[in-house]
Amino acid sequence: MQFQWYPGHMTKAKRQMQEDLKLIDLVIELVDARIPLSSRNPDIDELGKHKARLILMNKADLADPAKTEIWSSYFKSKGYFVVCIDARSKKGMKTIQNEIMEACREKIERNLRRGIKNRPVRAMVVGIPNVGKSTFINTYAGKACAKTGNKPGVTKGKQWIRLNKNVELLDTPGILWPKFEDQKVGLHLALIGSIKDEILNTDEMSLALLKILMKDYPNAVAGRYELEEETDAVEVLKNIAQKRGCLKKGEELDYSKAAALIIDEFRSGKIGRFTLELPKEQELA
Ligand code: G4P
Repeated sequence: MQFQWYPGHMTKAKRQMQEDLKLIDLVIELVDARIPLSSRNPDIDELGKHKARLILMNKADLADPAKTEIWSSYFKSKGYFVVCIDARSKKGMKTIQNEIMEACREKIERNLRRGIKNRPVRAMVVGIPNVGKSTFINTYAGKACAKTGNKPGVTKGKQWIRLNKNVELLDTPGILWPKFEDQKVGLHLALIGSIKDEILNTDEMSLALLKILMKDYPNAVAGRYELEEETDAVEVLKNIAQKRGCLKKGEELDYSKAAALIIDEFRSGKIGRFTLELPKEQELA
């Protein structure tokens, strides 16, 4: 699903989220493990400030494992519970239940002190478009889980998925609007395919991607495309066009075709597993 965000969209999504947040104890926030910061909307910290918080770093299958570790420690140091997952292949899903219980421990203990037993904690999934919210809900909740239906006092139409005796999940995820005022954030979101490609042209995107990869992952591009060396980005794009036979009519090289191919192969993980950013503290180190 591709989205263009306008102020009207954002206001509507925010209002909806505020309503839904009233019903829950725990915010399960999905981020893309390749760009854990650019794929977050920091407004969620304000919106969900009195809730337990769990961050799921999704699409970990496409991200650099060492950098995923760094990000995971970083988020934990900021007080979030964190699990790295691949919602599509179900990797990492087993530990989520434990983390949910840990994240909600205070709430559960408070309930027990008040004599409230067997009240499941309620959670909702939030994240920017395309980060894997629906895939996660489908994988995690699965078909086996009974929907609990409407309950008294709950907004009409809200469906809760009973995951087990301790946890209920709102079946519709909260959509956070991507924040791409910052050019770098915009580029990152475009590279992973979260905002429309038309916003940045493919040629420019591929050159920017090549620059990032050649700097942070030397020889990954050369390895994938069997290049003798990694020179400057334009030269590399040209060499890839040659190697892959990207030609216009009349044997002229088709750079745009090569650019699209590179972006496509990056998104599907064919070039390798990459993370495009590190926590600011680490970048300075
Ligand atoms: P959303 O609800 O947050 O908008 O995201 P959604 O679940 O629709 O997922 C967006 C795309 O990301 C889907 O691909 C989905 O398969 C893919 N995806 C979700 N989780 C993971 C993951 O952990 N790893 C990888 N590699 N991909 C993931 P799509 O191309 O839109 O659809 P399809 O090709 O799966 O049919």
